[in-house]
Amino acid sequence: MTDAGTGSLLIDGIGSLVTNDPALGEGPLGLVADAALVVEDGRVVWAGPRSRVPEGAARERFDAEGRAVIPGFVDSHAHLVFAGDRAAEFEARMSGRPYTAGGIRTTVAATRAAGDDTLRAGVRRLVAEALRSGTTTIECKSGYGLTVEDEARSLRVAAEHTAETTFLGAHVVPPEYAADPDGYAALVAGPMLDACAPHARWIDVFCDRGAFDGDQTRMILAAGKERGLVPRVHAGQLQPGPGVAVAVELGAASADHLTHLTDADVEALAGGGTVATLLPGAEFSTRSPYPDARRLLDAGATVALAADCNPGSSYTTSIPFCVALAVREMRMTPGEAVWAATMGGARALRRTDVGRLSPGARADIVMLDAPSHVHLSYRPGVPIVARVWKDGRARA
Ligand code: NIG
Ligand code: FE
Repeated sequence: MTDAGTGSLLIDGIGSLVTNDPALGEGPLGLVADAALVVEDGRVVWAGPRSRVPEGAARERFDAEGRAVIPGFVDSHAHLVFAGDRAAEFEARMSGRPYTAGGIRTTVAATRAAGDDTLRAGVRRLVAEALRSGTTTIECKSGYGLTVEDEARSLRVAAEHTAETTFLGAHVVPPEYAADPDGYAALVAGPMLDACAPHARWIDVFCDRGAFDGDQTRMILAAGKERGLVPRVHAGQLQPGPGVAVAVELGAASADHLTHLTDADVEALAGGGTVATLLPGAEFSTRSPYPDARRLLDAGATVALAADCNPGSSYTTSIPFCVALAVREMRMTPGEAVWAATMGGARALRRTDVGRLSPGARADIVMLDAPSHVHLSYRPGVPIVARVWKDGRARA
């Protein structure tokens, strides 16, 4: 048994290892059969065929007994700081009511009324749940406070759990600004940004029907950039719109959702500088058509998969579920989906230390209760994640 802590660890007997380093193995996943991994001080120091493990490299040994090992999932899109749930809204939707941005205000009211400890406990619960299904890096947005105080507090709580914090004051216009949406956009880009920028790495805007238009999105993201935050955009979830164009224009790290894509959007994303992040849990839970992943991939876009965990449109933290949806419903191959949920997520968060298992990477490692990564989509809905190490420590 192994919990190597900060010491060294040898994982061998790996039936199939996804390194995501084409120099180490076969194809884009850098697949190595009958493999081993050596970890030291929380980092991968060696990965390759078991027959070539450096002698005496590790103190502790863990035998994977033929199971598959992949990098921990990098979930680049989550809304975890909230109170309450919206099961009633989901139930009504399953009887035919459409999803709209308006439901967000229900969660805003509950979140404003909640104490810090309630919010904190909610985030802790969801981060732990995500970890159990293999997510070792998770982004977390604000966006259910929508006052200067409540947005700053949401980000402070998020920062207790992840370095990937995103200021989403521009989620929807809150009720008290219903008559003055531009006034709210100015608040977001002014005093709210001032209070939130110290706690955030990213800035996001929900650019869609019932939320913010292209001009407001551009203005808010530009203000965020001036404060050192890097943009990401909720684009094309409810209808085609300017979200992708503004994202690419401002050099956003990612454009997310993309349920509705125009030819110009695909062309803009084809260069890969702005990652196309697909969130099939949202289409599943809102009964919407799935995004055209094939078109994006064939055009050369970099595609990430994320869970979009939130109480309205996608109340799941399960990346294995999203991988299965992407394969079955979006015609991604099992390998493309695993890459998108690991390396794709890392690209969307502009991280080079996660999403891969090659020397220098963080030892964020997932062992599946299966002989290959294909089983993630082949065996949907089962507890397929057998063990998770984060920074070289066994965590789940
Ligand atoms: O990514 N689209 C905007 N934000 C969330 C939904 C938030 C909610 O419904 O509470 C999303 O799907
Ligand atoms: Fe979202």
